[in-house]
Amino acid sequence: MGLEPPVLAVENVFKRYQVSRGLLRPKRSLQAVRGVSLSVDKQRTLGIVGESGCGKSTLARMLLNLERPDEGDILLDGRSAGTVGRLDFSARVQPVFQDPYSTLNPRRTILETVMHPLRVHARGERNARETRAARLLDLVGLPRRAHHAHPNQLSGGQRQRVAIARALVLEPQVLICDEPTSALDVSIQAQILNLIQELQKEFGISIVFISHNLAVVEHLCDEVAVMYLGRVVENGPTADVMASPRHPYTKALLDSVLTPDVGLGLPDLQLGLEFPDPTNVPPGCAFHPRCPHREPVCSTEVPPACAQAGHGSECHFADRLAGAFAGPAAVCAGRG
Ligand SMILES: Nc1ncnc2c1ncn2[C@@H]1O[C@H](COP(=O)(O)OP(=O)(O)O)[C@@H](O)[C@H]1O
Ligand SMILES: [Mg+2]
Repeated sequence: MGLEPPVLAVENVFKRYQVSRGLLRPKRSLQAVRGVSLSVDKQRTLGIVGESGCGKSTLARMLLNLERPDEGDILLDGRSAGTVGRLDFSARVQPVFQDPYSTLNPRRTILETVMHPLRVHARGERNARETRAARLLDLVGLPRRAHHAHPNQLSGGQRQRVAIARALVLEPQVLICDEPTSALDVSIQAQILNLIQELQKEFGISIVFISHNLAVVEHLCDEVAVMYLGRVVENGPTADVMASPRHPYTKALLDSVLTPDVGLGLPDLQLGLEFPDPTNVPPGCAFHPRCPHREPVCSTEVPPACAQAGHGSECHFADRLAGAFAGPAAVCAGRG
């Protein structure tokens, strides 16, 4: 641990939305993110996992400074995002989203797409911009003959390569990848994951990698944070979390990646039909209605939050369960 602040951090961030339930009924408050603290260090990869709806993309938008938290702060190199300036922030923290088609302008050619951020940020002359964009497209493995194609002429995997080149062209410090392979064919997913990994080495960037698939995160991430209903319920070095989960929800996620069709959609967590509802967060531990190990205290008292450093779990019975859960590590190596 050095004395440098983490490259990017969120400190106790909250985000609520008011959602309509119909014309005449009062709006309800939806708690998308409920007090999350996370950080990513230089050249490291942080994974964020959890089921659909647990708040991952909301967190991603706050990490990208596209949305302000209701409470808490985003820190870039230790400085509050509010003091950094939008353009400067976006040059240093760039996104790769799930669906590359909707984020690529259909009217621009591939080369123009990758040159565009350089123009917005007034970097270099036109020739220099073109040379740099072409080099990035080479690095992500897009053939030169595709430079003047439009997004609709490319495959999903190729479009995601373009989105990655565009994200890297400004030499950001951090890449926020929000389910970057979830919309792709399973056969293409591994290529894109390998590409991200290679580019990280090449550019020395930090990555926040969001996925609903723990197997993908195991493959790629140094640390992992497991989210449930807007909170981090377990965090720590990926290898530790995989080998000895300390939260029943993580255990269920780990078991679910052994099902054959992980790439195809949501894992079946075998946790019953109690669906998590962010407009109606259960009291005590929010996971208790689905927890196979719950005790009376779980429905009345909020468990202590995860520590920021080391391996932590927001579960009243973390110590007891850790022993019971410990099993063979790397059950899912090579998947995803
Ligand atoms: N702009 C919004 N307005 C209202 N509700 C939202 C908005 N964005 C997200 N939500 C809700 O917040 C919760 C978390 O969503 P999201 O962050 O997209 O989760 P994830 O990416 O983990 O699937 C969901 O219940 C979603 O419906
Ligand atoms: Mg999402």
